[in-house]
Amino acid sequence: MAEDLHIATGSKEDQYRSLLPQIQGLLSGESDPIANQANVCAALKEQFGWLWVGFYLIKKKDDQTEELVLGPFQGPVACTRIRFGKGVCGSAWEKGKTLIVPDVEQFPGHIACSSLSRSEIVIPLIKNNKIWGVLDVDSVDLASFDQIDQRYLEEIVSWLNP
Ligand code: SME
Repeated sequence: MAEDLHIATGSKEDQYRSLLPQIQGLLSGESDPIANQANVCAALKEQFGWLWVGFYLIKKKDDQTEELVLGPFQGPVACTRIRFGKGVCGSAWEKGKTLIVPDVEQFPGHIACSSLSRSEIVIPLIKNNKIWGVLDVDSVDLASFDQIDQRYLEEIVSWLNP
């Protein structure tokens, strides 16, 4: 049975250091991708109180082209499908690297799922050199995300499997 998350205080680094082993505990012994993605969203949302934390997963359409489809998330309702290269999520997919957007209004083509979102970080999910989705995090504050978030979020998503 899952135990309550211990919510840490202190610097962002302190909070991640407390959170990471707890997330590792939640994921250990469970191989179901949806269950694990759902708990990662919940743990991040509970610890940091961000507006939106969620996964978009690459799926094939009927015509065999791929797009991002909404997966497990916490926060307000969101857009369900994002095309390759579109928005911050589709751009992170296209570039295959983490994108940090300090001010979403300055990002050309940003997709506004919630008018409350001011800054965003998108981390690609990569297994065996292949992208299988992205983790998207939105904040109501400008410039919420930096290299510390990138480092720890990239570590967390490396534990997930498609
Ligand atoms: N802002 C994202 C879309 C997803 S929502 O923020 C949940 C984007 O531009 O790709």
